[in-house]
Amino acid sequence: MKEISRLRIMFVDDELSVIKSLKRTFRKYDKEWKMYFFTNPLEAFESLKENNVDVIITDMKMPEETGFELLSKVKKKYPGIIRIILTGYANKELIYSSFEVAHQLLIKPISAESIIAVVTQINIINTYIKNKELQNVINNLSYLPPLPEIYLELSKKIKDPESSLNDLAKIISRDPSLIADILKMVNSAYFGLSNKVFKISQAISFMGIDLIKDIILTSSIFKNLKGTETQIAAIKKVYQHSSNVLKYSIAISENLEMEDIDKNYIFITSMFHDLGKIVLIMNLGKKYEVLLNSAEKDKNLNLEELEIKYLSFTHSQVGAYILGLWGFSTKVIQSILFHHHPELSECTDSYLLGTIYLADYLDNKTNPNFKVELNRKYLQLVFKDINIDELIKKVRSENE
Ligand SMILES: [Fe+2]
Ligand SMILES: [Fe+2]
Repeated sequence: MKEISRLRIMFVDDELSVIKSLKRTFRKYDKEWKMYFFTNPLEAFESLKENNVDVIITDMKMPEETGFELLSKVKKKYPGIIRIILTGYANKELIYSSFEVAHQLLIKPISAESIIAVVTQINIINTYIKNKELQNVINNLSYLPPLPEIYLELSKKIKDPESSLNDLAKIISRDPSLIADILKMVNSAYFGLSNKVFKISQAISFMGIDLIKDIILTSSIFKNLKGTETQIAAIKKVYQHSSNVLKYSIAISENLEMEDIDKNYIFITSMFHDLGKIVLIMNLGKKYEVLLNSAEKDKNLNLEELEIKYLSFTHSQVGAYILGLWGFSTKVIQSILFHHHPELSECTDSYLLGTIYLADYLDNKTNPNFKVELNRKYLQLVFKDINIDELIKKVRSENE
């Protein structure tokens, strides 16, 4: 683990009792974190003039100013600060408006562990992505994909010990397109089930709720985007490519003795390894489309090189950063961050990264105009005694 610098967090809640209990809970983190507590959002904002803060966690409903208003100002004046809203109830409108200003929405009651998990995660991403300019750009993007309402509702329900499989199935069943996506996945060859599954509750028990949540997240992000014709066309391409990478990844993983946890991450990592492209297409429009088109048409140009030259950061960094804000595991973030240059990861034991890297290469290789090279030395290090050429041959023949 790389060294993690001291994180600075500001908590804002108008209820003194909440602030007192937060202080008690986080007292033991005094050495690792520098913390600021405020009951008045106006004073909290004023203090940012003197105090450098990395993360601000604010209540939504406050008399002087709402959390939404506070974070709007923070976003404008201090875009580098990570903004989190804590709220008692999340309805659709609130979630959508929150994501205009917040990176994450935590639903009360929330345990200290959940806040710690989010904050620790953010700290890890900041350690990996030191580029402050990138952090500022991402935190200031007008379009940050929101976590879908059903996703948040499911996350909450899962934590409720009283909830049953049927309760979860009921939430999912409200959206027919999600039902179709989930049933398609559970009935795919990957699960190798002898009988067809028709019910969401059955799908949950076969696939596990985490994978179901990942499917919901990816299909909501890909399907609910609104943009210009060229933006939508570019995103469709990313979707097609990501679906191909998923197919290749599954085929590769079948040849590796992968731990179950890594197997479960294959779906989200494959489908979102290029999430950064979507965010950049949505935010930068033509400026980014030009880079995508150049990389696609000119054999001598490579997308990441163009991104560094013209944007000073890459789609891999953007995607990893957002997955981090959403609270995904370090393994997933690492695999996305280094999917074009795994050798930079200092990590030679991740089957997940090796798999995504090879799957991405295999799909990109089908386009004769792409500038792609395979770092065999790295792959051999990760895949140990597996014959890379044979593996590629096998995976290709299975996917033709
Ligand atoms: Fe990529
Ligand atoms: Fe890719």
